[in-house]
Amino acid sequence: MADLDDIRDGKEYGIGVAQKADGFFLKGSANLDWGMKDRLSRIFNPQTGKAVMLAFDHGFLMGPTSGVERIDLSIVPLIEYADCLMCTRGILRALVPPTSRKPVCLRADAGTTILTEMNDNVVLDPVDAVRLNAAAIAVMVAVGDPETEALTIANLYGAVDSGQEYGLPVMGVTAVGKDMARDARYFGLAARVCAENGANIVKTYYTEGFEKVVACCPVPIVIAGGKKLPELEALELAHNAIQCGAAGVDMGRNVFQSESPVAMIRAVGAVVHQGMKPKDAFQLFNDLKNT
Ligand code: R5P
Repeated sequence: MADLDDIRDGKEYGIGVAQKADGFFLKGSANLDWGMKDRLSRIFNPQTGKAVMLAFDHGFLMGPTSGVERIDLSIVPLIEYADCLMCTRGILRALVPPTSRKPVCLRADAGTTILTEMNDNVVLDPVDAVRLNAAAIAVMVAVGDPETEALTIANLYGAVDSGQEYGLPVMGVTAVGKDMARDARYFGLAARVCAENGANIVKTYYTEGFEKVVACCPVPIVIAGGKKLPELEALELAHNAIQCGAAGVDMGRNVFQSESPVAMIRAVGAVVHQGMKPKDAFQLFNDLKNT
């Protein structure tokens, strides 16, 4: 056990100094096997190094919340504009057309709903992920939650072992407990813990000082969108994250709860892949909304 009374805040972040990629376009991924690189290259665009992941796994936790009541009607029309889909195996098999030809980051843990406290979750058999031709699997880690931290880190660890066996990248999903401070120090810790335990991608939340979170995480970070914001604010959130070095977004509610989800995912795509400024992207959103 380290001396917990002498945990010094990091200072040498090397902000602005890119981590060496050594022949592969994604940070921290150069030494992976071919299958892993192939799958990551289907999620992240090798031209831009970025990805717009469309998250619609909310039902596993929240049930039929606004925007995912009828995935066939609300989400399927958005699929063509996403780089990657994030959903559960139930929704994938039931409602996502296999002809979509989009990579899938499969939600690979289950067990928690909004009716209970966070729990340790069971993790999908990786063989089913392979059967579904998943490009990656996503596993939640509850850093700082006394009840479930160790169990969820063990889940991630096991998923990484399976991922190595089958060539499946693992995305560590940093959970935010009710009592945890949502700041760069916390997200920096949670993201780093995921990467240290073998995650190939980390999903976390944007916060002030996010450049430090990204700099200290040796693998690509994508941000969740979180609660629905006005469109301009959501585009600013995506823009700020990309400016801080994020490799993309894994956005759900700010897309499918938008007044014009197709316009919104296309505007988010312009921010992520073209570095479009939020005001220009908002203009694009309004133009597309009115077509
Ligand atoms: C949360 O547990 C889910 O994994 C969502 O996929 C994630 O939070 C991204 O969705 P949103 O942008 O709506 O937060």
